[in-house]
Amino acid sequence: MKPYHVDDVLITPRQLSQRVDELAHEMAAGIHSDNLVVIGILRGSFIFLADLVRWCSMNDVHPRIDFMIMESYGSGTKPFQEPQVSRDCSIDVTDADVVVVDDILDTGRTLKKAVAHLKAKGARTVRTCVLLDKPARRIVPCQADYCGFTIPDEFVVGYGLDYDGRYRELPHIAKVTFIEPTS
Ligand code: XMP
Repeated sequence: MKPYHVDDVLITPRQLSQRVDELAHEMAAGIHSDNLVVIGILRGSFIFLADLVRWCSMNDVHPRIDFMIMESYGSGTKPFQEPQVSRDCSIDVTDADVVVVDDILDTGRTLKKAVAHLKAKGARTVRTCVLLDKPARRIVPCQADYCGFTIPDEFVVGYGLDYDGRYRELPHIAKVTFIEPTS
């Protein structure tokens, strides 16, 4: 693995908290359903989703909550295969209004696959909510219905996002800087 460091704070805890509050307001104002299901894509969405649904409850929105695991990344920073659902959600989403929550929209493959999967399971509507969007990396056309922050093409960690399994616990979003070997 290339040497790297994780120092530069891209998004502070305060900015995260303010924006997640705003997203919950946007969702509460835009989604009126008596059968709302929020599904987080693990593992990266777990902190974002936990904060988002707590703000939702303050807006009197009380969804059922579940998770699914989608895998496409190895131990590095590049995707190496098409994302697959490796653990499905267990809530029945038939006729439900689903919001899929992910940490970051990168190439677009994961979200596109997740939406198709949930529609195929009978969801009435499927909306998408991502904390971060890296439009420069898009391969599959895909736009989130709710988006926290648009960021440049940098590898980032924290607030649920990891590099090689680490740094998910950071309360902020930080940039990973890879150190090129000097010759
Ligand atoms: P795609 O390419 O399918 O990817 O849109 C979405 C998934 O890619 C992971 N990802 C990242 N994870 N820092 C991370 O920790 C990043 O900068 C990053 N970019 C993409 C992430 O798991 C996301 O769900």
